[in-house]
Amino acid sequence: MNIIVTGGAGFIGSNFIFHMLEAHPDYRIICLDKLTYAGNLSTLKSVMDKLNFRFVKLDICDRSGVYKLFEEEKPDIIVNFAAESHVDRSIEDPSVFLQTNIIGTSVLMDACRKYGITRYHQVSTDEVYGDLPLDRPDLFFTEETPIHTSSPYSSSKAGADLLVMAYHRTFGLPATISRCSNNYGPYHFPEKLIPLMIANCLNDKPLPVYGEGLNVRDWLYVEDHCKAIDLVIHKGRVGEVYNIGGHNEMRNIDIVKLICKELGKPESLITHVKDRLGHDMRYAIDPTKIHNELGWLPETKFAEGIKKTIKWYLDNREWWEEIISGEYQNYYKKMYEGR
Ligand code: NAD
Ligand code: DAU
Repeated sequence: MNIIVTGGAGFIGSNFIFHMLEAHPDYRIICLDKLTYAGNLSTLKSVMDKLNFRFVKLDICDRSGVYKLFEEEKPDIIVNFAAESHVDRSIEDPSVFLQTNIIGTSVLMDACRKYGITRYHQVSTDEVYGDLPLDRPDLFFTEETPIHTSSPYSSSKAGADLLVMAYHRTFGLPATISRCSNNYGPYHFPEKLIPLMIANCLNDKPLPVYGEGLNVRDWLYVEDHCKAIDLVIHKGRVGEVYNIGGHNEMRNIDIVKLICKELGKPESLITHVKDRLGHDMRYAIDPTKIHNELGWLPETKFAEGIKKTIKWYLDNREWWEEIISGEYQNYYKKMYEGR
């Protein structure tokens, strides 16, 4: 089995590659990644020399490059993680989100049609469903919840999802889509809430909480997401959407306080800053379908997962210190200075 994993030098894609090489040592994994600011080759250091692994630096929007790779590798399965993934950056500049997330997805699917594959899997997000009100804890996103997006990021992911369903219906592309809630764990880029707060805490820097910090996210340990995708690409029904989430809703402010506590840092580091534009209030996934059909259940409880994650950032300081010492400094200034 040859599998092309796009975006495999990023957070979830790299964790998926580690999982697949471990769980299926007889598979060949080809990682296709443009290495944007979010992609990091050092993340893949431990697998680079494996005989059944290949890294290719490539943009998913580069049609001739993508076709050439398909010709060379004759992949059976494509798992598309490659995306611009940060909501705040999409508010600053939507254009690259439309390019990579929508056009890039169409290029990959055109290659699948041209060369033939057994499965195209699109890694999507719960953000395509918009948000839920805080005063209705009985409501959850199901696969039937209408698409109703808030940010340029979520709109670009929803556009890609619609295109995947269109390629399935019109061209018979054997496609599946998974929509997951917020992930956390090793190799999470420090522009996102949990790694940003860990890094700032460790550097005794202010912890910038947007607004009052009452927004709720549904956190899932990244390994559980990877296992769910492994199940969907092998056993999921073609043409179907699978929601992935572990019923672990938490308010941002509580996450930040927990990180302070775990690291022995004072809550006085918390600074409330101007809210994100169009900020979604609450995400909450109903994972009944993937549980009933594929038997998936999350394995890592948040209390254990957050401890493992914090330990990973303590043990792997050089990974994130290298990132935050470069171009990230300009990003941080632009996003947070005087906010
Ligand atoms: P990430 O930003 O950490 O990594 C994205 C990767 O894609 C990087 O390695 C980057 O170099 C690569 N990439 C970007 N543009 C590319 C292009 N044009 N061609 C090739 N490679 C390109 O993202 P992540 O958090 O790992 O998210 C991965 C996927 O999962 C995304 O599609 C995202 O929408 C989805 N998702 C993320 C979460 C989450 O909590 N992080 C939750 C649900 C779904
Ligand atoms: O739900 C899945 C989505 O989760 C994925 O599709 C996205 O790719 C991923 O980035 C994530 O989106 P969020 O916007 O939920 O994640 P982020 O870590 O950026 O923010 C989480 C919450 O924390 C959100 O309510 C905004 C808030 N926040 C974030 C940052 C970076 C802060 O209060 N302060 C911050 O500095």
